[in-house]
Amino acid sequence: MKLLTNAAGLVGEIEVPADKSISHRSIMFGALAKGKTTIKNFLRGEDCLTTLKAFQDLGVTIEDDGETITVEGVGFAGLKKPADILEMGNSGTTTRLIMGILAGTDFTSVLSGDASLNKRPMARVMDPLNQMGADLTGAAGGELPPITIVGQKKLQPIDYLMPVASAQVKSAIIFAALQAQGTSTIVEKVASRNHTEEMIRQFGGTIEVTGREIKITGPQTFSAQSVIVPGDISSAAFFLAAGLIVPNSEVTLTNVGINPTRTGILEVIQAMGGSLTESAIDEKNQSATLTVKTSSLKATEIGGAIIPRLIDELPIIALLATQATGKTVIKDAEELKVKETNRIDAVATELKKMGADITATADGLIINGPTPLHGAAVTSYGDHRIGMMLQIAALLVKNGTVELEQAEAVAVSYPQFFEDVTSLNGGR
Ligand code: S3P
Repeated sequence: MKLLTNAAGLVGEIEVPADKSISHRSIMFGALAKGKTTIKNFLRGEDCLTTLKAFQDLGVTIEDDGETITVEGVGFAGLKKPADILEMGNSGTTTRLIMGILAGTDFTSVLSGDASLNKRPMARVMDPLNQMGADLTGAAGGELPPITIVGQKKLQPIDYLMPVASAQVKSAIIFAALQAQGTSTIVEKVASRNHTEEMIRQFGGTIEVTGREIKITGPQTFSAQSVIVPGDISSAAFFLAAGLIVPNSEVTLTNVGINPTRTGILEVIQAMGGSLTESAIDEKNQSATLTVKTSSLKATEIGGAIIPRLIDELPIIALLATQATGKTVIKDAEELKVKETNRIDAVATELKKMGADITATADGLIINGPTPLHGAAVTSYGDHRIGMMLQIAALLVKNGTVELEQAEAVAVSYPQFFEDVTSLNGGR
């Protein structure tokens, strides 16, 4: 696909799509609750539709009237053995979280995804679930999908010190712990997004969180809720960046989720000297309107505990750094290597093709800026966030064209992405 280049300035207001993490979990909790859960502003991107379909395949009635999704909850015990392999597509969140749910069933299920998903590490989830008494095995006895899950109705609680900072792993263990007999303790290495913990409370369950320690006593039951999903800060990130680096821009993004476990990018923008204002802050729904303006940016260092709070934003932050004065260092981000693609290598390789001064390191990136970007033939590697980052990069290209391979990947989290770029660029 030929990308939009040489933008005159992005000006206007958009509502970014619904939060991917919360949309997945709203289907899951709706299915596990007793009663009818309604979900408004559900993200109809490919990953969340994978979750919706997987729960239908597990015997849950889920309907979409175009506005509201209705889930007829069946409880943990009401899930039915699927007739076939459960298709996970490109979705790591569906795969890892559902493993924790299926670990406590009385049937066997198999999960398989696309070429990218079937290369992603699953031992991080299989190990703790196997310690709890379930029986999970990967392809050829290893840790990669297809994963076979032999459920165990009588899961044991677990005391688990997490070796990786991952909300997906944490959530899978939490889902298993909710079905176990007794109290489980999970200690996170570094705090990660807490949507699962928040939704347990929203659906009437209990969870105790003290710093990085989480205690869950099972078994628990949930009651149906009405969920309204806020906009995804990880999708907003692309337009926050575009508004800061495309000349003559002023972009306003409404209803953006600002759960503090997700807002690392806002702190980075402030540290880089970007013009960012928050308004219409809604404490209850954890959302706000964010406005950015073209700014001269300075380099920064990003590492340590902030990393899980902006893990999905690092590709677009790397692009920001190519336009900032000085040397930006991103470290402690080795998890980027096991996302939809190896995002450290993908970001460095593709931005280098466009003229950036960027070097991949073992756990991050080093970027010297500012550098002008030029036309090139680039690829998303089938990774939605790499594809969107490259379109924002292309907006800065004055001469030449940018041809993006596998542009369709953006539909995983942001089906309207290219339309929103065009509309903010005045329809040009
Ligand atoms: C997610 C957690 C993160 C993130 C992913 C969504 C979630 O993955 O990258 O896009 O919804 O729990 P990890 O937990 O593996 O870091």
